[in-house]
Amino acid sequence: MKGILLAGGAGTRLYPITIPISKQIIPVYDKPMIYYPLSTLIASGINDILVITTKKDIDLFKTLLQDGSQWGCTISYAVQNMPNGIAESFIIAEEFIGSDNVALILGDNIFYFPSLKNIIANSINIQGATIFAYHVSDPSRYGVVEFTPENKIVSIEEKPKYPKSNYAIPGFYFFDNHVIEYAKNIKPSDRGELEITDVIKQYYQDKLLNVIKMDKGTAWLDTGTVGSLMEASQFVHVLENRQGLKVGCVEEQAYLMNYINDNQLKKLSTHFNNEYGEYLKTLLNA
Ligand code: TTP
Repeated sequence: MKGILLAGGAGTRLYPITIPISKQIIPVYDKPMIYYPLSTLIASGINDILVITTKKDIDLFKTLLQDGSQWGCTISYAVQNMPNGIAESFIIAEEFIGSDNVALILGDNIFYFPSLKNIIANSINIQGATIFAYHVSDPSRYGVVEFTPENKIVSIEEKPKYPKSNYAIPGFYFFDNHVIEYAKNIKPSDRGELEITDVIKQYYQDKLLNVIKMDKGTAWLDTGTVGSLMEASQFVHVLENRQGLKVGCVEEQAYLMNYINDNQLKKLSTHFNNEYGEYLKTLLNA
């Protein structure tokens, strides 16, 4: 399975912070935002990754993430000329996806998934699509999925004014190869974007949509507003301070997946003359 990390967008809700710089580069506590979704992809066993971003920001991402080989990954890059919507990523990535399945993660979505391995084992060899549902207090900001008491899907709506449930669809999805064709089928919405919800709906109509409710121990944070950005930083700070373990540490996830060995991790740790480097060294002795 290939992975797309979508890190374009305009980031207008974070202006003036994001006037000169991509949202996904700015820090969430002790690392750049993009480390979190990247480490989620790596922890899912995906190491062939396309980063899609803007023409303006692409060089920053190349400086930060390089070609991925330092983490045993292959990271390539593509430009989205305008923020035409999340679903455009499959059209941009058509050649990269080839005949494979693909996972898409949004560059401003942070997950803390104690049970990620079990979830992924069920999602990776898919026919159709697998998406998640997460209970939130403010569903109207998201795609919303409505269930029957037996967990059958009843409806899927993008940013509904009057949401029919509290289950939002987080920005982490798994698709089979039909996703390219489905993305090409859709037309821009009223707000002028190719909506991921319209892709998901086609899988639903074909009875090929699998929705996994994330359990209560999972955290899904988005970082699109100054308030949610601050909350995400605080969340990571509290967890890391309390546990002495990092969230979203790309080097750690690459090591746990055996994409890099002891020597490579040791070498990476020497790049940081700080607490981050010390943490990487402790992983060698764990
Ligand atoms: P959004 O938060 O919906 O949009 P945005 O990042 O442009 O922010 P704002 O609403 O404040 O202007 O995007 C969610 C994620 O998807 C984010 O990581 C950016 C990414 N994205 C793209 O890369 N291209 C797109 O066309 C869109 C709509 C989003």
